[in-house]
Amino acid sequence: MSLVLAIETSCDETAVAVAVDTGIIVASEVASQIALHAPHGGVVPELASRSHNARLRPLIEETLSGAGLSLRDLAAVAATSGPGLASSLLVGDTTAKALALGLGLPFHSINHMEGHLLSPFIPREAGDSGDIRPNLSLVVSGGHTLLVLVHGTGRYEVLGSTVDDAAGEAFDKVGKMLGLPYPGGPEIDRRTPLGDPEAFAFPRSMLDRDCHDFSFSGLKTAVRIQLEKLPASPGETLLADLCASFQAAVVEVLVTKLDRAAREHGCGLLTVSGGVSCNAGLRRAVQDMAERTGRELLLAAPEHSTDNAAMIAFAAVARRAAGIPPSPLDADIDPNLTLTPDP
Ligand code: KG4
Ligand code: ZN
Repeated sequence: MSLVLAIETSCDETAVAVAVDTGIIVASEVASQIALHAPHGGVVPELASRSHNARLRPLIEETLSGAGLSLRDLAAVAATSGPGLASSLLVGDTTAKALALGLGLPFHSINHMEGHLLSPFIPREAGDSGDIRPNLSLVVSGGHTLLVLVHGTGRYEVLGSTVDDAAGEAFDKVGKMLGLPYPGGPEIDRRTPLGDPEAFAFPRSMLDRDCHDFSFSGLKTAVRIQLEKLPASPGETLLADLCASFQAAVVEVLVTKLDRAAREHGCGLLTVSGGVSCNAGLRRAVQDMAERTGRELLLAAPEHSTDNAAMIAFAAVARRAAGIPPSPLDADIDPNLTLTPDP
């Protein structure tokens, strides 16, 4: 049994996890910075990197000791190398490289999006294999909206992405417009069951086009225009109607495009991951679609949907199992890293 320790510091969560080479996660800790950034209404990069710097070392020690492990038990070290905030990425990347160098272990630099993409395969119960099977993947996070054909580990074909805002970004911007706390996604999700999803007819952008790309900025503008016509303090009922109508538009676009791409490419297995995959309305709608169309569906577990290091450790384990070699210690971080197939 060999163990991989992974560090994730691409944005506003400091996270550390350890995975066994079977993919089973034996320890996973996340130190959230939400309270630090909430007063600013969004992530402040310098505050984020300074907080990673202060929290990371103790979090590594807590993660290992909580699982009864020490650095001597590790077989490899991994870290997120992009995409994300440069100053935040550097903290985790440099710490992981220093650990690998000091302990004489291989280092694996991991694409954050590959972490999300593979997270639905993280074993949940004894008997789950953790093997990556070909699938059509919808990745919906704060920074990305991707439809990806997964042929195997490291073999990804991006079919579509957003031409403007990511789905999570749209949730957060609309949340801010509605005066909700940061991040807006979970706040809108929580209010949606109290509202009428048909109260406002918000646009379903790019559904009429024969492509797999997404666009959410028109929807955000439509909410702003609607808000201008409403009283300055809309009240709880109207607020819930706005949340429900906005969420219905996002969910319909995501599920319809996933279904269409699955039909076009004959995919029997669908996966959904990223922070927005926590959304109750999206989870229900995608489950209904999968059931109706007779496809298998793997949703990332909620604790593996928003940023975490378990998905980075799991991606490192999957890459090692696929025979993908470790990364050089002088590999750079890349804030704009895209999901491209391995050479
Ligand atoms: O994957 P993630 O933690 O970070 C990125 O890689 O970007 O995703 C964060 C995003 C935020 O935009 C947040 O509002 C959204 O995920 N999110 C949700 C929900 N929970 C988190 N959006 C809608 N409904 C939720 N329940
Ligand atoms: Zn993420």
